[in-house]
Amino acid sequence: MQLDDAQLKQFDEEGFIFVPDLFSAEEVAVLKGEIPDIFAQRRPEVIREASGEAVRTAFATHTYNDVYRRFVSHPRILEPAQQLLDGEVYIHQFKLNGKAAFDGEVWQWHQDYGTWQRDDGMPEARAMNLAVFLDEVNEFNGPLYIVPKSHKAGVLEADHDVVTTSYPLWTLDEQTVAGMVERGGIAAPKGPPGSGFFFHGTLVHGSPPNMSPWDRLIVYVTYNRTDNAIRRFKRPEYIAHRDFTPLSALSEDCLLK
Ligand code: SIN
Ligand code: MN
Repeated sequence: MQLDDAQLKQFDEEGFIFVPDLFSAEEVAVLKGEIPDIFAQRRPEVIREASGEAVRTAFATHTYNDVYRRFVSHPRILEPAQQLLDGEVYIHQFKLNGKAAFDGEVWQWHQDYGTWQRDDGMPEARAMNLAVFLDEVNEFNGPLYIVPKSHKAGVLEADHDVVTTSYPLWTLDEQTVAGMVERGGIAAPKGPPGSGFFFHGTLVHGSPPNMSPWDRLIVYVTYNRTDNAIRRFKRPEYIAHRDFTPLSALSEDCLLK
């Protein structure tokens, strides 16, 4: 799938693109069908909320689950990533973020590239995220908060938060966030399951806790250019991948067969 000129312009100027109906209800059902088994697993990749059993993040599922292995090479997400990054890409990170009803906790304000640069030695911000909503995302169940245009600010000062997150993240202080929001405001992409959201590696974002009775499951794939592969192997391989093999798109119906 190729993005059109208006979408490319929006990504450049705003730092994100929202694509309603990127995946069909049938495809979402296939993706969600794998979740009970994945979330029941006891393995280092599956991290629970501090409060109990709810899954906060399941990393690297595409390395051991065949449906998600196919998903990451789906042409509707891989081809736009190749287009936006203008070259061949591999997967730097994969995560299923549960944000469970009542239990899903906050994600502090951060830029993903802030962590990829400082912890993983990624040379440039030539990496990006693709999110697909596997549940409806609404104003109550902990939607992503993003600061439009903040990707233009480059890498901002940050502190290493090893306390409030499920894995250490470089998070932004209040003054920095306030300054960014004064310029760009805050947006919260919302929509039905199957919605797609592409966002730049330096876009400022976070999300509030989920106090609602509705789960908010989102799958994230981080694509990085193969010539921008990481140089530092400090974090576990399941958080910052070392397989830099370029991906090739599968067929349109690869989730359904
Ligand atoms: C993230 O920024 O990595 C996760 C945010 C979320 O899933 O709410
Ligand atoms: Mn993030």
